[in-house]
Amino acid sequence: MDQVLRFIDDQRARFVDELATWVKIPAISSDPAHKADMRKNAEYLMNEMRRLKADRVELWETPGHPAVFASFMHAPGGPTLLVYGHHDVQPVDPLDEWISPPFEPAIREGRMWGRGVVDDKGQVWIHVKAIEAFLETAKKLPINLKLIVEGEEEIGSDHLDGLMREHAADLSADFVCVSDTAMFGRGIPSLCVGLRGLAILEVQVSGPRQDLHSGSFGGGVANPVNALARMIASLHDESGTITVPGFYDKVKTLTDAERKEIAGLPFDEKEWLASTGSPSVTGEKGFSTLERIWARPTLDCNGIWGGFQGEGSKTIIPARASAKITCRLVPDQDPDEIARLVGAHLEKVAPPGVKVKVTPSHGGHPYLAPTDHPVFDVAKRAFAKAFGRPTVFIREGGSIPFVRTIADATGKPCLLMGFGQPDENAHAPNEWIDLENFHLGIKSAAHLYDELGRLPAEGKR
Ligand code: BES
Ligand code: ZN
Repeated sequence: MDQVLRFIDDQRARFVDELATWVKIPAISSDPAHKADMRKNAEYLMNEMRRLKADRVELWETPGHPAVFASFMHAPGGPTLLVYGHHDVQPVDPLDEWISPPFEPAIREGRMWGRGVVDDKGQVWIHVKAIEAFLETAKKLPINLKLIVEGEEEIGSDHLDGLMREHAADLSADFVCVSDTAMFGRGIPSLCVGLRGLAILEVQVSGPRQDLHSGSFGGGVANPVNALARMIASLHDESGTITVPGFYDKVKTLTDAERKEIAGLPFDEKEWLASTGSPSVTGEKGFSTLERIWARPTLDCNGIWGGFQGEGSKTIIPARASAKITCRLVPDQDPDEIARLVGAHLEKVAPPGVKVKVTPSHGGHPYLAPTDHPVFDVAKRAFAKAFGRPTVFIREGGSIPFVRTIADATGKPCLLMGFGQPDENAHAPNEWIDLENFHLGIKSAAHLYDELGRLPAEGKR
């Protein structure tokens, strides 16, 4: 391992340069204008896999954006690790809030700034460079390693189920590792053991055939914007609880032990609040902030539009109003069921005089890791070795649909070994990755491969 770690130290600057080159490709999966960039983006990763002489390097096509698959089967009879990541990134608007342009990665304050630096290109590159470190020194990996990097994670992984069915055998493994989450705080190695799921829907409320003069018609017909506002407001009660019947039916109550573990983390609520710029914390009564964002379900309106948006005023009864709504889910809620319940409720609470159309989209299931499996101790140790501090278990409020899908398909544990920071600005202007985390992340991945390679057969389960 000494040689491997020395190589990672020696090549530190080059690894950063390579990440910057990748980040320059604007791989925004939600924007059809970037379809060709998505392919170029996948090619960059494939070329690196070819350079490292992977046994297999394949572009897996989907009706949307392609995924990259590579494998290094260097340890016959040994354990196989499947590493997952995504090569697509979020849109960049509002562009004028970026200090340096999103696709011209800049280094400041020991960080790299740019869209996708941490979510998730930097974290994929961490694994690629850990692989390289073994290949350049020991000439082989201590385990069998497969890498799947999809191109549609940020838009809901719509074609992932198809890919997984088609390539079930290619994706078989003893353990799965996903690096697409954040650490609890600076320098604190953190294994994420829970992710929330996601239910997605759009609601359109319509009234008159076209916009009407509000003087001539106001008071006589329903206003869709007013109606939609009332409908959305009715989704929560005064204590922040969601009012949709059946919404909480399948929610697993937090155990005392789980609550104790969360309460034991060194969470600085003031600092967390300051990082958001919001004036105060708020949310469902009876739960702490960490419980609310990690282990309780939520319902949020992500966008709302309708009627006149221009300068000045325009006296109309708008014909239509719409909203995009998502719910973060916890075990054992089901995304399709929740989208159905919320949709039915919206239809029920619509005031007279409007029509309601609800369109659900594909979401993702929540995940809770089987932390009693011995591999979690192995991962804790590997992470701690690189960062020189004990590893903590955390959860995340975000979603990674692949995690539950692969866990259900293979029955294997998933290690969420993430190297971001809570205030990394993922999905927002000025996304950054801490370059020390990037460096120690590569060492953590190397330690993980090394430790997994030493597992006695029974430890593999
Ligand atoms: N890297 C995030 C997941 C994440 C979010 C981890 C927050 C830790 C904290 C991932 O790329 C992501 O943003 N996922 C989407 C998935 C959705 C579109 C199905 C999300 O959570 O919104
Ligand atoms: Zn991500």
